[in-house]
Amino acid sequence: MIQVKKLGLHLGAEISGVDLTTPLDEATFAEVAHAFFDNEVVVFPNQFLTPAQQIAFTRRFGILEAHVRKESRLDGYDEIFILSNKVDAQGNAIGAQDAGRFWHSDLSYKRQPSMLSALNAVEIPIKNGVALGNTLFASTTAAYLALSEEEKKSLQGLRNVHSYREYRTKNYAAQLEDMRLGIRTVQEHAPTEEQLASVPDTEMDVIRTHPVTGRQGLFINEGHTSHLTGMSRQDSDARLAKLYAHIVQPAFIYTHHWQAGDLLMWDNIALQHKASFDYDPLPRLMYRTTVRGPVVT
Ligand code: OGA
Ligand code: MN
Repeated sequence: MIQVKKLGLHLGAEISGVDLTTPLDEATFAEVAHAFFDNEVVVFPNQFLTPAQQIAFTRRFGILEAHVRKESRLDGYDEIFILSNKVDAQGNAIGAQDAGRFWHSDLSYKRQPSMLSALNAVEIPIKNGVALGNTLFASTTAAYLALSEEEKKSLQGLRNVHSYREYRTKNYAAQLEDMRLGIRTVQEHAPTEEQLASVPDTEMDVIRTHPVTGRQGLFINEGHTSHLTGMSRQDSDARLAKLYAHIVQPAFIYTHHWQAGDLLMWDNIALQHKASFDYDPLPRLMYRTTVRGPVVT
């Protein structure tokens, strides 16, 4: 039997009583999957998984993505996306430094946005005994439920465009500005035209029904949503700003305080998340696997 301890009001749970270094039997895996989808973000503490063990466990949820940022994949393991501010012997960034400046859900700009991501905490920055680099999660299903019936109705049929090109361009510009200000010390890899061109903009419904839980949520996020269709940019910006502010209210948020060895897994359909950059130049190293979700229309 696994133990599930709730961490937040609407989202977040700690799962113990499982060892993810060896394959789970079908019954235990089903329990884990149920607890995961029910709580939207779960932590498995003290796992210290190898890349191969992380891949083997998360692959049971579906197809693993190889990230479009090839230079940030782990050598020999295309399914592992490195998130780190560390550099190699030549001084080049070993991974993506900044995957979470804006609220976002992973790969939401794809025709098949991610179903879930799993982040393995290999090295966590600690200052004066306190772990830095918390990750924040906001439940868009809880946020949707809390809307008035009138607001829910007004969102029906509304569409939004997610743009990888716009996202990477604004994220990279923000990184360069951080470098100029001395807030960040390691140069991020620049987006290439090949990367940008390989992920075309995608249009999808604002209200999305979760394929496993059936819960409805808001599939918009400040990182990747470019605009709402069928209205002026000004109206779209104003409407989105109001919705974003609604989603990130404290009642819908769980903040994860990392410990090395954590495997944290979150639902990219039900949640959005954001990083906090309070640790540079202390080293941080995380390995992410990302499970592909169904096609959005
Ligand atoms: C990610 C991400 C946030 C963080 O791994 O997808 O957004 O705190 N990470 O590093
Ligand atoms: Mn992310």
